[in-house]
Amino acid sequence: MNKYDGTPLELTDFSVETDVFRRDVVAGLRNRAKSLPSKYLYDKRGSELFDAICEARDYYPTRTEIGIMKRSAPEMARAIGPGAVVIEYGSGSSLKTPLLLEPLEKPAAYVPVDISREHLVEAAERISERFQDLPIMPVCADFTRPFDLPEALNAKAPRTAFFPGSTIGNFTPSQAQTLLRNMYDETNGGSVLLGVDLKKDVDVLERAYDDSEGVTAEFNINLLEHINRELDADFDLDAFEHRAVFNEELSRVEMHLVSKKRQVVTIGDETFSFEPDETIHTENSHKYTPEKFAELAKPAGWRVAKIWTDEKNYFSIQLLVADK
Ligand code: AVI
Repeated sequence: MNKYDGTPLELTDFSVETDVFRRDVVAGLRNRAKSLPSKYLYDKRGSELFDAICEARDYYPTRTEIGIMKRSAPEMARAIGPGAVVIEYGSGSSLKTPLLLEPLEKPAAYVPVDISREHLVEAAERISERFQDLPIMPVCADFTRPFDLPEALNAKAPRTAFFPGSTIGNFTPSQAQTLLRNMYDETNGGSVLLGVDLKKDVDVLERAYDDSEGVTAEFNINLLEHINRELDADFDLDAFEHRAVFNEELSRVEMHLVSKKRQVVTIGDETFSFEPDETIHTENSHKYTPEKFAELAKPAGWRVAKIWTDEKNYFSIQLLVADK
């Protein structure tokens, strides 16, 4: 029986104010090397486009990670243990969540955390239909900063941060370390189950971020549309193009929006000029070796307890536990 029948999902809402969005965009475009925070790629349309990227032939991470989960989720669930609160960071459409919730023994609650409110609520409702006895407590928040968990959460239940998709790679190593430290605090030193994309052939990497169907290009350009809509800006979407390049030294794929010509863009009452070929750096996707990732996690309080990979060693799912 669904004990939550008829009760609307309780949403804890810390979504970003337009003022903060404007401040971040203006600051990024005032930098000598222009950049924009990648979290603003994920408005409603951006989140839909990201789901389409996950289906694209050239984008290997999603299907590889799902393959690993399908094969090894029972083992992952055993390693996490019974009665866990699962806190999913950047839950989006919560597509991989059932793969973990299904084999988990008596999970105490599911807490999806995401910045895109509509996406979050839709996904939370879908999960609550499927797992009818499980308390679902969505939190609309920017998970890159510490956030408060719902008060109704059982303080004594063991907590696991679930962070699939290799989103950890979208942060610089030092930001990733801060996030892992926040997870340590938010789980009370419980555990983390996360996806980490592994270093591999440059061609495979660059193709994954500039797919032949053009979905990633549309995803990147949509950031300008998001700014036009919310911040009264006049980016000409046809005057920028998508570029993805692997930076060997920093071991990351970089996404840029390249200005096709000399142009001036207005955002509210501020103007920004662009030279031909000048870029706005919009996203990084760091690729790790298992050794480098373990080095990163250690100062944040974690030890790698177990790694699951695919047969090509393209992707890994790692279980981190407190390094006592
Ligand atoms: C969300 N994140 C893990 C994706 C990645 O692979 O870095 C974002 C993405 N950007 C372009 N394609 C996918």
